[in-house]
Amino acid sequence: MADVLSKRADRTLNIPEFLVHYLLEVSANSFHPADNPSGIVNLGTIENKTCEDIWLKKVEDLTPLIADKSSLYYYNLSGFETLRQNIGKFLGTKLKLPEPLDPQKIVLLDGVTAVLNAVALAIADEGDAILCPIPTYGRILNDIEEVASARFYKVPMFQECDTGDAAEFRIDVIEKYYEKAVNEGRNVKGLILCNPQNPTGKVYSQNDISCLLDFCARKGIHIVVDEIYALSCYDKPEFISVLQCNIPDPARTHFLWGFSKDLSLSGFRCGMIYSESTRLIDYIRKVSFFCSVPAPVQIILNAIISDSEWLDTVYFPTYQKRMRENFEIACRGLEAIGVPFYRGTAGSYIWMDLTKFLPSKTNEEELALFHKLLLGGVYLCPGKEMFSPYAGWFRFTFTTYKDHVIEGLKRMEKVLTSN
Ligand SMILES: Cc1ncc(COP(=O)(O)O)c(C=O)c1O
Repeated sequence: MADVLSKRADRTLNIPEFLVHYLLEVSANSFHPADNPSGIVNLGTIENKTCEDIWLKKVEDLTPLIADKSSLYYYNLSGFETLRQNIGKFLGTKLKLPEPLDPQKIVLLDGVTAVLNAVALAIADEGDAILCPIPTYGRILNDIEEVASARFYKVPMFQECDTGDAAEFRIDVIEKYYEKAVNEGRNVKGLILCNPQNPTGKVYSQNDISCLLDFCARKGIHIVVDEIYALSCYDKPEFISVLQCNIPDPARTHFLWGFSKDLSLSGFRCGMIYSESTRLIDYIRKVSFFCSVPAPVQIILNAIISDSEWLDTVYFPTYQKRMRENFEIACRGLEAIGVPFYRGTAGSYIWMDLTKFLPSKTNEEELALFHKLLLGGVYLCPGKEMFSPYAGWFRFTFTTYKDHVIEGLKRMEKVLTSN
């Protein structure tokens, strides 16, 4: 039956879905201190559960708003004008921009996942390369390859022998891999940067971003900056958005953000793109018909994002405080077990170095350790899924429930000290 589907479908089906597979497996047997104490602690999926109590109350208060006829019928599928306007104001303030983002240059889709796919469709033809510094958010490969058929081209930017910052920004490395891709006959169309970076938690400096903007402008390639963790910094340096920088090639510079991380609402499915390129925005508006944010969701998100008083006096202070607490617990716990980690300053996760538990430092050993930890009741994301250049690194999400962080650390210790 192999030939009943298109080549496109076959190719997509051949791209593995490791993390989705384990998310579903782990979700079917989640740890709960009272109801399922032998369930699995999920420290692998990046969800922000630190403020669940606050969000449940907020959503309950806002739910009556959707009992409105605007929930029922077709609407502007690329995003309500009011919501785009309010997101533009919110980001303008939070990212310290001189003015709000122009709502006409914003399109909303059902998650940054959908936005990455739409951007890849817009900037690359089948087989064209999009560069991406690694390690990075693993699904980017699926997002740009599965439907858009662009080619994810890895640029290793994590150094084994580092000079104090293993995730140091290296424009020379980017240049080298750009040339390598060209010499291999690839048509390089763009570069995607996650800032803050997932999984290292690295925040790039203004100088790093400016260097990259200049590089992409010189090469005439698009630069897509995914800032989905922009408001999840727990330490200095202060986060600098690409939109705060001097942009040499505005028509090829695109900014992405969403509600899944900074605002904890990954179930609401809403991501956005802001770009000065009218043609790119027009194209993404067209494809928004396939992945629009449902009207009832937009109504609630609009009420949230326009409530700056609640966001600034209730949500963000609580999120900052709880994120910081969980981060400290995780750091202290890892130090106590003797697990080294990269010192990031943002995001929901810690990039841990478990290489000392891998005698030969191979990917097979990394996978074996992953399974051993899972058997010991803790799910952690293995570095291979984030294209780590070295085997043995794992990502630990600390923005889950505090008791899950504590229980996960206990289980890690048991597994890692069991030999
Ligand atoms: C860097 C990055 N971009 C995008 C996403 C996906 O976001 P969304 O839930 O909006 O699709 C994630 C999720 O983990 C992420 O880490």
